[in-house]
Amino acid sequence: MSLRRFDSTVPFLREGYAFASSLCDTWDTDIFTTRMLLQPVTFIRGEEAAGLFYDGDRFTREASVPPNVQHLLQDKGSVQALKGEDHHRRKAAFLSLMDGDAMRRLGDLFDEEWADTLGALPGPRRIVLHDFAREVLTRTAVRWAGVPPESTDVRRLTNELGMMIENVAKFGPANWYAQLRRRGTEKWAAGLIEQVRAGELDPSPGTALSVFAHHTDFTGERLSAEVAAVELVNILRPILAVARFIVFAAVALTHHPQWRDAFAAGDERDLEPFVQEVRRYYPFFPAVPGRVNEPFSWNEHRFDRNDLVILDIYGTCHDRRLWDDPYSFRPERFRGFSWDEHPNTLIAQGAGRHSENHRCPGEWSTVELLKHAVRQLASSTMTIPAQDLSIPLNRFPTLPRSGFVFHYTGQPGSDI
Ligand code: HEM
Repeated sequence: MSLRRFDSTVPFLREGYAFASSLCDTWDTDIFTTRMLLQPVTFIRGEEAAGLFYDGDRFTREASVPPNVQHLLQDKGSVQALKGEDHHRRKAAFLSLMDGDAMRRLGDLFDEEWADTLGALPGPRRIVLHDFAREVLTRTAVRWAGVPPESTDVRRLTNELGMMIENVAKFGPANWYAQLRRRGTEKWAAGLIEQVRAGELDPSPGTALSVFAHHTDFTGERLSAEVAAVELVNILRPILAVARFIVFAAVALTHHPQWRDAFAAGDERDLEPFVQEVRRYYPFFPAVPGRVNEPFSWNEHRFDRNDLVILDIYGTCHDRRLWDDPYSFRPERFRGFSWDEHPNTLIAQGAGRHSENHRCPGEWSTVELLKHAVRQLASSTMTIPAQDLSIPLNRFPTLPRSGFVFHYTGQPGSDI
């Protein structure tokens, strides 16, 4: 279906996350074509569309987003810009970082950094959770990645990584400044890679710094220090981005206190379903764009080489055909959920199989960090002052307007 209106940029900015799914619902379709910034774009949504979008190399991410967005997110030379065997090889390096032991270490480091960062705050502790969680996560990410914490000013790094996320949908000076700061971060990361290669630093095997410093491509060549640095930043930056989900989890614990009570009492049977529901319910990545590699047809629509296609992530995570009462927060729906059977339904971080396509290799780490954060939040004594917890759907990326403020009054048994 083709929309009659000339261009949809303004309606998209006005309606935000709900733009594509509201049109799909109105026209009872999973596909429509319109224009964005005067360019023809086809939106697709739903389980089948997600399977199609993540099916092998049907779509490339190359030239699918404006350069100012690409530079702030994955950047040139990164795993996301690769195709075919090159992509599989680099992706395997990312996936090698995510085994069970590495996840346990990540969770332990997070708990340590949470306690230390909290302990270092002057009282009375009025905390903006988004800022606090970003600092905890940066400290965690640096140590988990094998980077010596003394090699960086963590506050500055938090600020730089945060700018890459906050300014991604902005044009003009804010975006340019964030790009400039990103160059600085990449230079610092390239310096670390070179120090490892020169034998001046010896990160533990299996950490991101060690893996990317030594990773080779098909020709047996090591990655350039610049590309290895881009990949190191592609571990650090998205770990900090988990702060948004932590804030959303705090909102969910506030609005649905029965979960908080259960977790505080040590009943963790539904901890994982709770975290999955946070990832499904709250708005994070609205959509993911790609360009057609080879022509094909789907749903009576012909896709030509280079066509721009956008998969509606938010709409698929709220698709009534997949989720009963999708706008209700109900962790129970994830009890006994089988990923193998449903890889294209909870697509907050991509669809299909991780090793075969661009699905996010950080999903396990996101879930692990969220579980630890929910435990921390549920077990601390906090009061939540009056504030605006509404989440605007027309801001990218979005957050509760207040950033989630709380007054921390200690943990049972702690003297903080
Ligand atoms: C904070 C929550 C996160 C969200 C919402 C998120 C979302 C996504 C999405 C939607 C994609 C697929 C992009 C595409 O198909 O082109 C992706 C890819 C990727 N993510 Fe995440 N992610 C998150 C956390 C993480 C974490 C914690 C890491 C690393 C530790 C990570 C590393 C990556 C990388 C390297 C890719 C590119 C994979 C490839 O091209 O094969 N992400 N992410």
